[in-house]
Amino acid sequence: MITISCASPKGGVGKTTVSTILATTLAAPKSGRQPRVRVIDADPSANLTRWADERAGKGRAALFEVTSDVVAETMIDTIDGIEEEGETDFLIIDLEGTAGEIVGYAIGRSDLTVIPMSASSMDARQAAKASQLVKRMAKTFKIDLPYVFAFCRTNAAIMTREHKGIISQLEAHEEPVLAVDLKERSAYRAIFTEGATVLELEENKSGSIAKAQANAVAFTQAVLDYLAKSRSVSEAA
Ligand SMILES: Nc1ncnc2c1ncn2[C@@H]1O[C@H](COP(=O)(O)OP(=O)(O)OP(=O)(O)O)[C@@H](O)[C@H]1O
Ligand SMILES: [Mg+2]
Repeated sequence: MITISCASPKGGVGKTTVSTILATTLAAPKSGRQPRVRVIDADPSANLTRWADERAGKGRAALFEVTSDVVAETMIDTIDGIEEEGETDFLIIDLEGTAGEIVGYAIGRSDLTVIPMSASSMDARQAAKASQLVKRMAKTFKIDLPYVFAFCRTNAAIMTREHKGIISQLEAHEEPVLAVDLKERSAYRAIFTEGATVLELEENKSGSIAKAQANAVAFTQAVLDYLAKSRSVSEAA
């Protein structure tokens, strides 16, 4: 089982959106072997759980089970229980916007922590707190805990000067950045009102749904590519 957590102490940066896009894109019906996905919704505002409820209410087929009401004391047992069942290929964990104990437990059991951030300097500082927490956890337990920053809600048309500046700073500090950003797209809000996946949304006149779908697929692939890269690096070490 591969466990991917979405973490950042900054609220509203896109953790739940990224978690939903990753889970739904991985679980989307496709030819060949279908990955089995599970989600832990550890965000007290329970938006991912609400998304699943909305989906069920609209009569859409469930793509995965969402486990909610997980607290710091139960996080490790919940993750390990799902792993022991042996029925999950990808476990996606949506975390609350704090640096609380529960976040540390989830990160400590993750194969990859995705740290969403917007292209703003203020967010970058908050995102750095998440990466420092991952590094502290890795040091404490003497294990390799890969993480990657993922730019979210970026302008679909242009790359701002602030965005370029943050990328240069991250590169200067050899911090990992996901190769694909999740752009600012209204489709990524619509999935929550519709209880749908981006791939299920119907195209509008502007053609923006197709762009959001392509971006969601490319973003998910970039996460898988990063995971593969971080695993081959740790095996070689
Ligand atoms: N790429 C995007 N395009 C458009 N809207 C987005 C995008 N990412 C997030 N949003 C919107 O921004 C708001 C915050 O996003 P989200 O809930 O995913 O953040 P979060 O980090 O999980 O927040 P919290 O810390 O409160 O849990 C939501 O209204 C969401 O619909
Ligand atoms: Mg959230």
